[in-house]
Amino acid sequence: MIDKAKFFADCRLRVDAELDRLIPAGSVEPHRLHEAIRWSVFAGGKRFRPVLMMAVARTFGADLELTDRTAAAVEMIHTFSLIHDDLPAMDNDDLRRGRETCHKKFGDAVAILAGDVLQTLAFKALAEDDRLPVDVRLKMVSLFADASGTPHGMVAGQQLDLEAEGRDVGIRAIEEIHERKTGALISASAIAGAVIAGANDSEIDSIERYATRLGLLFQITDDLLDVTQSSETIGKTAGKDVHARKATYPGHMGIDATRVLAREVCKDANDALTAIDHDTDLLSYISENILNRET
Ligand code: IPE
Ligand code: IPE
Ligand code: MG
Ligand code: MG
Ligand code: MG
Repeated sequence: MIDKAKFFADCRLRVDAELDRLIPAGSVEPHRLHEAIRWSVFAGGKRFRPVLMMAVARTFGADLELTDRTAAAVEMIHTFSLIHDDLPAMDNDDLRRGRETCHKKFGDAVAILAGDVLQTLAFKALAEDDRLPVDVRLKMVSLFADASGTPHGMVAGQQLDLEAEGRDVGIRAIEEIHERKTGALISASAIAGAVIAGANDSEIDSIERYATRLGLLFQITDDLLDVTQSSETIGKTAGKDVHARKATYPGHMGIDATRVLAREVCKDANDALTAIDHDTDLLSYISENILNRET
């Protein structure tokens, strides 16, 4: 039986070490750009997407060395999305990962550039990952371009999120926003772990069904934390979704009904795992943890 706490701690150490190798040091010119990137990346994020990728890879028996680079790439794409999400023109947030947002600390222009270049660094890392065969690398580039872009990826979701502000868009639209702005990158992370580990097509399908529900669950619980936790606990400004009149599940159906929905979505995610002929304990543990998370 795998020691889960140790496994997750190891995954975080691995991805942090890889990020440190891939991101230029603050001493490299242009200093402010690299300092800004490092400010946001090494601020204590949960590393959920890398950990999920590694847990899926481990489920199918892969050596984690194969996932290090891809895991760091997804964390760079995710951190780029957070830096831009916080900008005054988007969610206008001052607090992220328990410290000042990138633009508060370094100014809007540097934050925009830091986000931009985290994305190019991520795709460079994927393309140049010589631990993976070229066809797998190509698959990773395509998978993460779709997941972070448009029409079904994160940027598309962010656009829909902004367009929905102040409007009662209905449950289907909220699901669509959440699946794109947050779910897409989470699903891609899980699928990447399966592909890297050499899982077969039906296993990859099951992982996709699991992770699509897990990704939605992650944003449902993000919306819940915004209304139930303090800024200190979540490391970002609590209560901002109501203030910005965001389209959220608690805003649409209330906290109690959202909690019921979250349990159902978690169960759907775990049900998708039953078709997999490997020990999926790590993965059901992850979904239960997301359901019950407090940060
Ligand atoms: C926050 O993501 C933004 C969403 C997509 C919900 P995380 O909750 O994973 O943030 P970090 O990486 O731990 O800071
Ligand atoms: C953001 O959703 C999703 C991203 C693509 C970053 P939120 O706007 O709810 O994320 P937080 O609450 O600011 O982390
Ligand atoms: Mg947002
Ligand atoms: Mg936000
Ligand atoms: Mg939020």
